[in-house]
Amino acid sequence: MTRCRPPATESSSATANVALYQREAHSVSKLAHLRFFPLAVTGGKGATLRADDGRILIDFSASWGAASLGHSHPAIRSAVDAALADQAGASYLSSANLPAIELAEMLLALAPARAAGRVWLGHSGSDANETASRVIRAATGRPGILAFEGAYHGGTSGSMAFSGHPSQQEVRSPHLTLVPYPTASADSTLEVIDDAIKRKPGYFGAFFIEPIQSDGGVLVPPPGFFEAVQRRCRDNGILLVSDEVKVGLGRTGVLHAFQNFDIEPDVLVLGKGLGGGLPISAVIGPEWLMNHCAAFSFQTLHGNPVCAAAAGAVVRTIETEKLLHNASKVGGYLHRLLVDLAARQSAIADVRGIGLAIGIELTHRASDGLSARELTARVVYRAYQLGLVVYYVGISSNVVELTPPLTLSYEDAARGVSILERAISDVVGGVADEGEHGNFTGW
Ligand SMILES: Cc1ncc(COP(=O)(O)O)c(C=O)c1O
Repeated sequence: MTRCRPPATESSSATANVALYQREAHSVSKLAHLRFFPLAVTGGKGATLRADDGRILIDFSASWGAASLGHSHPAIRSAVDAALADQAGASYLSSANLPAIELAEMLLALAPARAAGRVWLGHSGSDANETASRVIRAATGRPGILAFEGAYHGGTSGSMAFSGHPSQQEVRSPHLTLVPYPTASADSTLEVIDDAIKRKPGYFGAFFIEPIQSDGGVLVPPPGFFEAVQRRCRDNGILLVSDEVKVGLGRTGVLHAFQNFDIEPDVLVLGKGLGGGLPISAVIGPEWLMNHCAAFSFQTLHGNPVCAAAAGAVVRTIETEKLLHNASKVGGYLHRLLVDLAARQSAIADVRGIGLAIGIELTHRASDGLSARELTARVVYRAYQLGLVVYYVGISSNVVELTPPLTLSYEDAARGVSILERAISDVVGGVADEGEHGNFTGW
């Protein structure tokens, strides 16, 4: 890999970020860091972020899908402002509050019939999935959980316990059965599921699915697969839980990601984009389950009215700004640009996803001596240098993931793809400035 003079757009970034990074290193723990490049953000608007050197970067990640309306959206700002101007406490543990109730009512009105009973509010996808799994075990008396290899359901012990992502191996529950995620054909996975259920009748209480397996590599199942999984769940009294934390609430061009298939989950889990950047999550399920007992799963700030008000604004704005339509149209446009790029750039092995949940799988074939993992890490680093924020996922760490704001414009979509194109060709051509790339291990 040769070094080249950095292009004009990146001139001051490396040095300007050093100060913030050094300062951070002396104060902030690394335990939660999942870093790919030395980005330090001082602000943002729409689908862009402002770095501390003044550069404006296009944000194709939206903080892993959390900033669902983009940055500084006026609807969230005014909802948060109003909730803080006359703050109805800080929690729903020991008192009711209007923003939390209104949010629950809205979510129930939009929920699938089987799940439209009661809503639990939490802080994160992790605590929501953990709560769903705990209450299902407690209410059904069935300890077993089925989930997919490669699935990421959270970063708390209780959610890691039934995740299948390689980064979480050591804490899995003995009651977890992981089945392979189907790629080309569903048949072999269905056989594994049938076999597991037959060997332990009455043991499994829940089957957790991600409608698109995001952190596992943005995998979309073959047609008919989830329908076949649902039939098995119904036949055996197993609750189907749709973990829509990353790809739900409009990202795929429909409100709920399960609606891309002919299924209806018993339990729906939302997070990330629900708060539009504020911490809030939800479990939506039947009343018999969600009212299993009081004081079962709570943290002090659950049901926080400020976060609930932000989430209410997100749900309303998806409707008023027709963001399902935008995700579908701009997502389709983005997808087509990337498929065209793949035809020109042999480092791209596959482009997949639905709406604004897109994965770009890279392969080592085009690059001299670089593994697919190393190539991908260098591409996202180079993209950052050139002005685009994207990260990678996948059990082999070789899938660039796009989860931009649902408000993404055609112009920003096109600008982002042209930066990505240059980033890939610079890395493949051996002319990318490696910068501090070696310091960033990603995952
Ligand atoms: C499908 C899915 N579920 C749950 C989670 C956990 O969400 P959080 O990190 O907000 O707790 C994630 C995070 O990436 C996710 O992708």
